[in-house]
This record gives sequence, C-alpha cells and structure tokens, in this order.
Amino acid sequence: MSMSGVVVVGSINADLVVRVHRHPHPGETLMGSGGNITPGGKGANQAVAAALQGAEVTMIGAVGSDAYAGPSTELLHSAGVNMTGVATTATTTGLAVITVSKDGENSIIVVPGANATVDESYVRTHADTLVGADILLLQGEIPASGFAAATELCGGRLVVNLAPVIEVPREALLKADPIMANEHEAGLILEQLGITPESGEPQVLAQSLLDAGFASVVLTLGAHGALVGTPAELVEIPTPKIEAVDTTGAGDAFAGAFVAKLLEGEDMIAAAQHAARVGAYAATGHGAQASYPDTTAQLPEVRG
Ligand code: RIB
Repeated sequence: MSMSGVVVVGSINADLVVRVHRHPHPGETLMGSGGNITPGGKGANQAVAAALQGAEVTMIGAVGSDAYAGPSTELLHSAGVNMTGVATTATTTGLAVITVSKDGENSIIVVPGANATVDESYVRTHADTLVGADILLLQGEIPASGFAAATELCGGRLVVNLAPVIEVPREALLKADPIMANEHEAGLILEQLGITPESGEPQVLAQSLLDAGFASVVLTLGAHGALVGTPAELVEIPTPKIEAVDTTGAGDAFAGAFVAKLLEGEDMIAAAQHAARVGAYAATGHGAQASYPDTTAQLPEVRG
C-alpha cells in the first residue's frame, strides 16, 4: 500500500467572526463589527496549515448542503488538500461563532452540524486511507466514536490535538505521539485520565502527561512558546515576539506546520521550532486559514 502523507480526520466550519472592543459579560449587549464568514474548523485549519507548509494532506470530514459549504472549503481546495474524503451531507455545515477582542484574544462557540456525522461508521468507510497514512492528525471536534475508529485504523504516527477536550476512550487517546495541548486542555486531559497534577506549572503538566503514558507531549504556551517532552527530556521552544491581531486558529497553524515538518523527517524539537514561527505569523493576520503562511512567506524570527 502506498502511504498518503498527512491524513486529517476532523471538523470543517464556517467561521462567523465578529470584532469587539472587549468580550461581553453574561447578559450584556455590545456593539461589534465584521460579521464575515471565513473558512475554519480545527480539522480544516490544521489540514490547510500543513498543506501550505508543503505536506501532502488528505482531509476526511463533512460539510452540509447549504450556503456555508462552499466558503468553508475554499482554502482547503486552493491549498491542494485531497478532498475525496469530504462528504456532503443533508444537514448544515459546521458553524463557529467567534468574537475577537482588541487584544486579539478570541472566544468561540461551535455548532457541529455536519461534523457530527464524522462518526465510527463514516470513518470506517475511509479505512484504506487511514491504514496508509504516514501521520494521522486528530482534534476534538468530531464524535468520540469517529476519533476512536480513526486511531484504531491508523497505520502511521498518531498526533492528537484534543481541542476541545472531549471524552474519548483512554486506550485510543494514549496512542498519541505526541499529545498536543495548551495548558487548559492539558489539565482537562489529565482529569479525564484520573490524574491530578501537583500544580498547573507547564513543566509539571508536561511531565504528568508523560507519566500518564503518552510517548511524547507538545504543550503549547501561546506567547511563551511551547514545551516538547519525551521520557528523556523536556525542551523549551521559544516563539517570536509579535503584535497579535487575531489569535484565532494560531494553535491550528502550529499543529499543521508541526506535522508537515515531522513528515519531512524533522525531529519534534525542530518541528516545534518551525511551528512556533508559523503560529506567530498566523496571529498577525485576521481569521484562521486566511492568516496562514505558505513556504514562501517571511516568518518572524525568534530574537534574544
Ligand atoms: O481553532 C480555531 C477554530 O476553532 C476556528 O476556526 C473555529 O472554526 C473553531 O473550530
């Protein structure tokens, strides 16, 4: 069987993005601007980011038969992602309602729509692609049954960015090499595994994930970079200092760029160093996929 590069089994969303001065309090109404639909979904974002960084990428997912299906897949197509595993269903396309505040921070509500059909039976119809994957990249925006089936069929390296943190079978999750999470997600993953870390310090969280049985971990720390951990060492990965405009999908840019470098044969440290620069670049532009660099872009440098 020929191997098929990076395979992403994940979500495809239409992002409805609204800019606000600050995030509203519960019960409060604020005036905003924007209201555009842009392509998003953690699965699609990571697929696009990996493809723009030169990886061969296949997407397995679903959209609806509505007006959002086209805009949500536009950049997947133009980035050259293989879309033969993307179904058009009778339901609506996944929708993310995103507010972005002046400092670039976002809050997101996702309505799954067609992403809810990416379950075990759908994933099993793509068994050949999954068996032939060099790297399988998963997130947490599809049903747990689809997630588990994909890990079972995976013929290559499994990279998991469990965002958002959904309840998945323990044995399926522990196959991740690495598990990729931010500090908040790492805490929830440990909770799901029945582990209480001694503190919320990044080093402690990373070590607790390794102690839980993960072969490796990438803990993303936003403006503070990342920590790459294996049983042998924990390595700090710096990130360039940038003026953040919109952090939406910056973590997805990191994940996609990271697997693109793994596919090229780089080790996790080199892959994370590159991914940090790609993630920082993404935070300097508006939207998720629309802000991702290709291989010709001038990435920000880590200084000092
Ligand atoms: O990580 C950012 C993404 O989260 C957005 O594109 C939105 O669709 C949600 O899935």
